[in-house]
Amino acid sequence: MTHLPIRPRRLRTTPAMRRLTAETHVLPSQLVLPMFVREGATEPVAISSMPGQVQHSRDSLRAAVTQAAEAGVGGVMLFGVPAERDATGSAACDPDGVLNLALRDVVAEVGDAVVVQADLCLDEFTDHGHCGVLDPRGRVDNDATLEHYRAMALAQARAGAHLLGLSGMMDGQVAAVREALDEAGHTDVALLAYAAKYASAFYGPFREAVESTLSGNRRSYQLDPANRREGAREAVLDVAEGADVVMVKPAMSYLDVLADVAALSEVPVWAYQVSGEYAMVEAAAAQGWIDRRGAITESVLGIRRAGAEAVLTYWAVELAGWLREGI
Ligand code: PBG
Repeated sequence: MTHLPIRPRRLRTTPAMRRLTAETHVLPSQLVLPMFVREGATEPVAISSMPGQVQHSRDSLRAAVTQAAEAGVGGVMLFGVPAERDATGSAACDPDGVLNLALRDVVAEVGDAVVVQADLCLDEFTDHGHCGVLDPRGRVDNDATLEHYRAMALAQARAGAHLLGLSGMMDGQVAAVREALDEAGHTDVALLAYAAKYASAFYGPFREAVESTLSGNRRSYQLDPANRREGAREAVLDVAEGADVVMVKPAMSYLDVLADVAALSEVPVWAYQVSGEYAMVEAAAAQGWIDRRGAITESVLGIRRAGAEAVLTYWAVELAGWLREGI
């Protein structure tokens, strides 16, 4: 017999041994479901590039959030699809704007059984599709945009949101929103900073989901996919400005950035498995080229392993169901 005292395969011999030695686990409570609500919709509208995902009506959203809560997911992240858009995205700050109405509906329905989260960004609400307002030369005006984010944050807090997801990538957005909320007494509303949000091709299907009007790109405010150090820098800045949670987005192509941020952050780190990541797996699975359940489970496990404490994923409810079966 070969004398081989060190045999890593010993710990892989049985399912029980593998279960006992697993380093990473995924729990339903660590999953957040992103959801879309469309103004004026009377029933859910399918999103063709995201099979299985829909633009909800206000009623179907309420029902779907209840189902998510029953599945044990940790939270939901709401995105609004307004009927009318203008240069400043004014519907974002209107208490009767679709996202703010949906927040009220959802909080009334599920209370604090899940963490009700709102996307805080202007891109769904502006007619030009940028995440901020434009200066006279057509460039995204950072500081003018902060004033709109402050107003949008107040509208979302008044509508009952528990956590606001700052996804616009304006400099100083966390500090500006924190100050506005605190001045108005909303000291308990938490802020999730999309700290390291990259200018990614993997947002493609999302643009269909929110009927984005963007022509051009977001490279003057979202990060260059070439940059790793800059992702960590953004996270450090956002924590200093008062972020309660920092996020890396997309997830699967940025696991190095995620690991870096997880190593340095003193607040929880989340990752967003975005629409294009979802669409790729669904498309390959529909062709029979990949094992759907295995690929979904492995992808979310990998994001957790790289350092995310929670994962925003369109598979949250389905995956939560599988995880419960497995227990
Ligand atoms: C911007 C926003 C985007 C996503 C979440 N928030 C799109 C963008 O930056 O262009 C993308 C999410 C996804 O692709 O699933 N409000």
